[in-house]
Amino acid sequence: MHLRNVTPADVDAYVRMRCDPLMMAELGGPLPRDRMPDKVRRDAIEADVSWIKMIVPGPDAPDVVAGSVTIWSHEADDGPVSEIGWMILPPFQGRGLGKRAARTLLERARDEDRWGIVHAFPATSNGASNGICRSLGFRFVAEQDVTFADRVLRTNHWSIDPHTALKPT
Ligand SMILES: CC(C)(COP(=O)(O)OP(=O)(O)OC[C@H]1O[C@@H](n2cnc3c(N)ncnc32)[C@H](O)[C@@H]1OP(=O)(O)O)[C@@H](O)C(=O)NCCC(=O)NCCS
Repeated sequence: MHLRNVTPADVDAYVRMRCDPLMMAELGGPLPRDRMPDKVRRDAIEADVSWIKMIVPGPDAPDVVAGSVTIWSHEADDGPVSEIGWMILPPFQGRGLGKRAARTLLERARDEDRWGIVHAFPATSNGASNGICRSLGFRFVAEQDVTFADRVLRTNHWSIDPHTALKPT
């Protein structure tokens, strides 16, 4: 598995991740397809400001995308917050890929001393995403309502200091 920056050619992967009712069941429902080309274009420009990474599952098929993992910063009431999010497409789920991709990005955050404390906000009902947090060493903070793509989700707030808490493989 390796991570690479998103490029404008990743529209199809974005549609499969963000416009699919099953993929978006825990994220408030599918997004409109016609928004994806613009979203990918903007993300490709931002790909090093935020870290917006596509997950390539193996070296034999460099064009295959299994999902994405992203760290970005946004403003909250009490200042900037670094947040991580992940998505794994159905054929690749349940193989530990989400966890490995998240760990890879958090190791890079630690090694480059970027992003500080990293937060995650999976829906309370999202067993696999909460599993990734628990299994990587995130600390549970509290339940919290979060607005995602104009919708309010009930989430578990988790946080991790990658320097001290990231569990080894
Ligand atoms: C959530 C998602 C990223 C998980 O990716 P994945 O590659 O299938 O997950 P992994 O195989 O790495 O499993 C992660 C951990 O969660 C655990 N887990 C998986 N499903 C679980 C469930 N239903 N309940 C509890 N734990 C679960 C796994 O056992 C593993 O922990 P372990 O290594 O300690 O055994 C993927 O299912 C997905 O993209 N879903 C749709 C979009 C989405 O919900 N994105 C996240 C928004 S916050």
